[in-house]
Amino acid sequence: MGGFVITGLPDIQTKFEGKVTFYLVVCALIAATGGLMFGYDIGISGGVTSMDDFLLKFFPLVYEKKKRAKEDLFCKYDNHKLQLFTSSLYLAALVSCLFASKMCRGFGRKITIQVSSIFFFMGVILNLGADNLRMLIAGRILLGVGIGFANQAIPLFLSEIAPFHVRGALNILFQLNITIGILIANIINYYASKIPNGWRLSLGLAGVPALILCVGSFLISETPTSLIERGRHAEGLEALKRVRGTHNVEAEFKEMLHASETARQVERPFMSIFQRTSFPQLVIGASLQFFQQFTGINAIMFYAPVLFETLGFKNNVSLLSAVTIGIVNVLATIVSLLTVDKVGRKLLLLEGCLQMFLSMAAIGAVLMTNTGQNQALDPDSAKGVVIFTALFVTGFAWSWGPLGWLIPSEIFPLETRTAGYAVAVSSNMLFTFVIAQLYLSMLCRMRAGVFFFFSMWIAVMGVFVAVFLPETKNIPLDEMVTRVWKKHWYWKRYMDDGTRSFKATDILDAYSY
Ligand code: BGC
Repeated sequence: MGGFVITGLPDIQTKFEGKVTFYLVVCALIAATGGLMFGYDIGISGGVTSMDDFLLKFFPLVYEKKKRAKEDLFCKYDNHKLQLFTSSLYLAALVSCLFASKMCRGFGRKITIQVSSIFFFMGVILNLGADNLRMLIAGRILLGVGIGFANQAIPLFLSEIAPFHVRGALNILFQLNITIGILIANIINYYASKIPNGWRLSLGLAGVPALILCVGSFLISETPTSLIERGRHAEGLEALKRVRGTHNVEAEFKEMLHASETARQVERPFMSIFQRTSFPQLVIGASLQFFQQFTGINAIMFYAPVLFETLGFKNNVSLLSAVTIGIVNVLATIVSLLTVDKVGRKLLLLEGCLQMFLSMAAIGAVLMTNTGQNQALDPDSAKGVVIFTALFVTGFAWSWGPLGWLIPSEIFPLETRTAGYAVAVSSNMLFTFVIAQLYLSMLCRMRAGVFFFFSMWIAVMGVFVAVFLPETKNIPLDEMVTRVWKKHWYWKRYMDDGTRSFKATDILDAYSY
């Protein structure tokens, strides 16, 4: 049987075979379009909330405040209802991903993905026809439920169908779609802002990625892991052969059977993730989400047009700058996709920290020295802010953006994977909500200080990664506990030495192995 020698870890040889087949790529590309829904939504909110006719219809007070010429530059958008428009979606996603995790485990990843697109689509219809704030927020909540389901199922799906040596790259297709979604949203906002009631177009076009995902999802395979986990061994074996493009899947199938048998013995996965042996994965999974959001990325993603307008750019120029930032975001994510399985997760995260720390501090410094008397920035400083923002986004896009989704999807053993991943996703949504809800008020009260606040957190997360994060590059999912956690200088103390009692041979015999 062919196999892979893993570079960088000379002691590990594996007998798993897996080609990057056409079918595998098609499945991954289709599932990853769920990232478009999430990204489109992230990108659309900021632009829409700076469109005058949208504000006039739903947030007349903000509109009034924005029009008052002498309003404090840093405070003109500080309004809780406006922030609720952006952040209500994340609250809904936070709760829904817990249900999605149950569905993922009990019914599979594929159906969870399908359900996500349907909820999202319903949300789009409500938003498109919204006539009052209530309809608008109800629509946002449905979108949020869709996103909770998608963000729970898709990264897991991608990590599970991928052969281990390209798992990082395949998983990052999700983040790549997020960034493409953000970019498309920014471009649409740019044009929609020029036509009357353009906000309806902006919100309505969110239906396109949902439709693509819904139709496309009928073509994809359920993950072999999920089929085996639900006792459908024969189908699981067939699916494994199909996605790996080979009949030589005995070793991997055997390992999946072991993992699923252990998983089946766990009746209440949500309880078992709070056991001592799950502590390391839980801490890493949740803290990566906290850190990802406390980089301050969404202060920029949601509010880039608002931020640039606050700095004195005209509405069109600020949306155009947001588009530029969006392009940088996509390109840098491709760099991550191409390098993550070679240089590893840790190096990317650490480099990202350094770059983000310096650029966030630089934005803070420019704003602090230039916006003293509530005057707009001078053109050079404004350009400086856009350049440092682009550098910040580049650093995020090849590190904490994609790896925030990749790492939690690969560190949990099967028995706690869906539950553990749900905790990670809901933490992400929680902290996204917190930032979305607080950022404009923080900008108003802390002014340039808000950027130093974020750079402080970036320094903390760099130290955390250096000390506590194990490297997971090129480790098969079902060998994560033995090869990573039991060997880590700190986390090994949480691992027990229990060996699995299950013997896979009987089942393997039944499948002629
Ligand atoms: C984050 C989002 C962020 C996006 C930016 C994602 O990984 O979860 O909160 O807006 O990256 O590209």
